Amino acid sequence: MSRKIGKEKGWGSRTGRTTKRKIECAVTSELESADLSDEILKTILTVPSELHEAIKEILAKRERVRTEHGPAKVAFKTKLGTLFNGDCLRVLEKLEDESIDCIFADPPFNLSKEYENGKSDRLSDSDYWAWTREWLDLCCAKLKTGGAFYVYNLPKWATLIASHLAKKITFRHWIAVDITFSMPIPSRLYPSHYALLYFIKGGRPNRFTPPRLPMETCPRCGKELHDYGGYKMKMNPQGISLRDVWVDIPPVRHSKYKNRDANELSLKLLDRVLDISTQEGDLVFDPFGGSGTTFVAAELKRRKWIGAELGDCSSIVERFKSLERDHSSLERYRLGLNQLFTDKALMARHKHGLPLDNYRVSDEQIRRVIRVVSSDAPKNQKNRQTTEQSTFPDL
Ligand SMILES: C[S@@+](CC[C@H](N)C(=O)[O-])C[C@H]1O[C@@H](n2cnc3c(N)ncnc32)[C@H](O)[C@@H]1O
Repeated sequence: MSRKIGKEKGWGSRTGRTTKRKIECAVTSELESADLSDEILKTILTVPSELHEAIKEILAKRERVRTEHGPAKVAFKTKLGTLFNGDCLRVLEKLEDESIDCIFADPPFNLSKEYENGKSDRLSDSDYWAWTREWLDLCCAKLKTGGAFYVYNLPKWATLIASHLAKKITFRHWIAVDITFSMPIPSRLYPSHYALLYFIKGGRPNRFTPPRLPMETCPRCGKELHDYGGYKMKMNPQGISLRDVWVDIPPVRHSKYKNRDANELSLKLLDRVLDISTQEGDLVFDPFGGSGTTFVAAELKRRKWIGAELGDCSSIVERFKSLERDHSSLERYRLGLNQLFTDKALMARHKHGLPLDNYRVSDEQIRRVIRVVSSDAPKNQKNRQTTEQSTFPDL
């Protein structure tokens, strides 16, 4: 394009000189932000003509990845959402700029996994990175100012993704999602977290409503697992502040809960992300549908959604035909949010005579728990009489 403008106007003319200056400025700023090493920059200076061929080849390869797949087709729709079967790049190109409230992306990690989608998950590192930058940039453009962008990946890729995104949008958190049950890697530390990057566009999030979590307690007796010393009375009765290390996200392993063979995230993770960064009616986009966890969470939480999946969409379609199981999982995950103790923990404490009057627990919750335990009374008459008097404050 620069050559055409140069030829038409002539670089010597006034307009030509201005255009040339503008192009030089744009190229300089791109080069500066491209993190090129001194060696590469010096090479560009010394062997421009040799580089032309190499650059043309890189550009052609990127173009092939970009246009490999044809237009995406609608796979199905609900009142709230639309799933497209096809390449997320095609879907992203069609979305309006600044139209999405929250993007959640869990791409293939380039680990040579079988996805049955006709796309290789075994790209060279540089091809994977070029492709990743492509969809990251489009996502940034489609996100509303104040919207949230979450990217889930291996720490190895997350470092690059974070530094790339930080040039365009605002870093908020690197959330470590515990995956204790992964496979050990010889001569490396045991990998036990995935990175969930959380960015926003602009300086202030439109929404930030993280849920508070119940205290971790012994499942048998309800005793605190951590020592809160003399601060018990100062603890927020709404629960513990959400940390940037999430150790309570279950893997989806059991075949009873799995919607397909591999790479399915827990609904609990998406429930939390949508709690933090969206409210009812907001628009959520996930470029890498997989088994449809993001879409299910959005649908059940009454958010609008748009998604893409390159491979077979039938497991998502099937999942949406009966959402009861997902609905009850979601309800289970949400039990105990925004309160210091779950009812179950309180009942266990009550039965084991552990005190509560050193915490600010709501009267309503204590009444509810006493009611449930009392209805259990004939089975446990003796124990109840002693613990009820000794552990619960007067109401
Ligand atoms: C890691 S899985 C996502 C799993 C999903 N988060 C879930 O909980 O089920 C990545 C998915 O992205 C799909 N995929 C890969 N390349 C794609 C592309 N260019 N456009 C759309 N989907 C793609 C793969 O087929 C795979 O199903």
